[in-house]
This record gives sequence, C-alpha cells and structure tokens, in this order.
Amino acid sequence: MTVLARLGLSVPVIQAPMAGVSTPEMAAAVSNAGGLGSIAVGATDADGARAMAAATRARTDRPFNVNLFAHAPARADPRREAGWLAALAPTFAAFGAEAPVALGEIYRSFVEDDAMLAALLEAPPAVVGFHFGLPGADRIRALKDAGCVLLATATCLSEAEAAREAGIDAVVAQGWEAGGHRGVFDPAAPDDRLGTMALTRLLAARAGLPVIAAGGIMDGRGVRAALDLGAVAAQLGTAFVACPESAADAAYKAALLDGDGRTAMTDAPSRAARRGA
Ligand SMILES: Cc1cc2nc3c(=O)[nH]c(=O)nc-3n(C[C@H](O)[C@H](O)[C@H](O)COP(=O)(O)O)c2cc1C
Repeated sequence: MTVLARLGLSVPVIQAPMAGVSTPEMAAAVSNAGGLGSIAVGATDADGARAMAAATRARTDRPFNVNLFAHAPARADPRREAGWLAALAPTFAAFGAEAPVALGEIYRSFVEDDAMLAALLEAPPAVVGFHFGLPGADRIRALKDAGCVLLATATCLSEAEAAREAGIDAVVAQGWEAGGHRGVFDPAAPDDRLGTMALTRLLAARAGLPVIAAGGIMDGRGVRAALDLGAVAAQLGTAFVACPESAADAAYKAALLDGDGRTAMTDAPSRAARRGA
C-alpha cells in the first residue's frame, strides 16, 4: 500500500510544518479537507508538543503530521561563539539592542530528547517527520512499532539515501527555493543547492523512496508539476502563511500579500558558519 493510501489522503497536499507559523487549527483544517496537516514542535518541549497534538486532535480525527528537529546537538566552542558575538555586535548596536554575553541552545534536538519521545509514544500521531537530520535507530524503531508513518526532509541524494537506510517511509525533497531554513543534515558538507524541480526528479529516480516535493509550490498547477516529476505529493508552506489559521504576524502576512518580489534566503547564516564566522 502506498504511503498516501496508508494515510487515507484524498488530496496529494501536505501543509508544511512551520515552527512559529503553522498551528493546530491550520493542521486540522488541512487534514479535514483531505490533505495532511502538520504541526511543528521543533521549537517547543514535550509538554508543548502534547498540548499542540491535543489541540489538533480536538479539531480532527484525520491523520496529521508531528514534525521534529533532529539536528546534531550543539557543541560548545567558546572561540567560535566569541566570533559570532563580535560579528553580530554592530547589528545589535544598530538597533539599540543589548547583545547577549553568551550563546545558548534554543532548540533541543529530538535525537537526545527522551521526554519528547515519551510524549509521542503516549498518543502516537499517524505521521512523524524529521528536519535537519535523522534520529537514532532506536527512536525510529520505537515510532514505527507504534504505527507512525515516518517522513524526513532531504536536500540532496545522500540525505535521501540515509533516510531510506534508516527506515524512513517517504522523503520530503526540499528544494533551494523552499521557505524556512533548509533541512540540511550537515551545514559544513558540500551543498549543490538543488532547486525543487531538479531535486524532485533526482530523488524520484534514485532515492528508492516515495518523494514529496517542497519549495516554491503555490497552487494546483505547481502540485501537478510536482506529480509529473515523480512526486507522490507536494508540501506547501508559504502558500499557507497568510491563512486565517496562521500564527504569522501581520508584517509577515503583509510582506507576502503586498510583496515586491524580494526573497531572503535564510540559510545565509549556515554559509557564514562554514566560513567560521
Ligand atoms: C516560516 C516557515 C517555517 C518553517 N519551519 C519548518 C519546520 O519547523 N520544520 C520543517 O520540517 N520545515 C519547516 N519549514 C519548511 C517547510 O516544511 C517547507 O519545506 C517549505 O515551506 C516549502 O517551501 P515553500 O514555503 O516555498 O512552500 C518552514 C517553512 C517556513 C516558510
């Protein structure tokens, strides 16, 4: 049975998990309409995830996706952190803001968050997705044994191959033009920055997993194009940002709706990190 059939989707559309923007209301509305809604819990803790999942379940009995950050946990490096603080000092000064004296880790990775795993296993969601990497085999096994369909973001073939070898059920092919931070596994690794078209057809041909295309898809014609390239579904983020159910602030929505066509690529900091700023 295909992944979409397992989930009972009638529309090949996944509402992208968007930390800080997607909401239980949004996820439920999309799932109720026959697509797959997603909540993003990468920026919250186990209790926050429990609350978001419960709020989604209160609004739909359809499958939904719970999305986690699975990045390599940060390692303290005083010299590098001092470099970042020095590099950012003029920016804080320009806005009259007080610069921090030290860097803290704001997002706990699922790879080491036992409380988050316990929260998921208490009431397993139909779908669990990973961004920025993959958790260990024990966590993947536990979630699969609990009946979860597993998704992972891939920005290149080697990440998709790692996902397949780890037992992931379908891969989100996230092109360079995708909104939000690209889910690269290792910011220091070589990066071809493939766009959605090239990446989707590459992964559909070579990854050996169902592919969900993501990046720059805004309407039915874009979804159709993704399917024509070999994807089983399309994942749309920016298209949902201005919806009534979105938690985006008014300035973000206005910039999208009245935009002048400018796009900011948000992986610029990871390029700076590679340079050792
Ligand atoms: C504001 C915002 C936040 C995002 N946060 C996440 C996230 O928490 N987890 C994740 O897997 N992807 C996240 N993404 C990426 C989306 O899953 C998806 O790949 C992307 O939105 C697709 O490109 P599009 O915005 O052009 O449709 C985010 C995207 C946006 C726009």
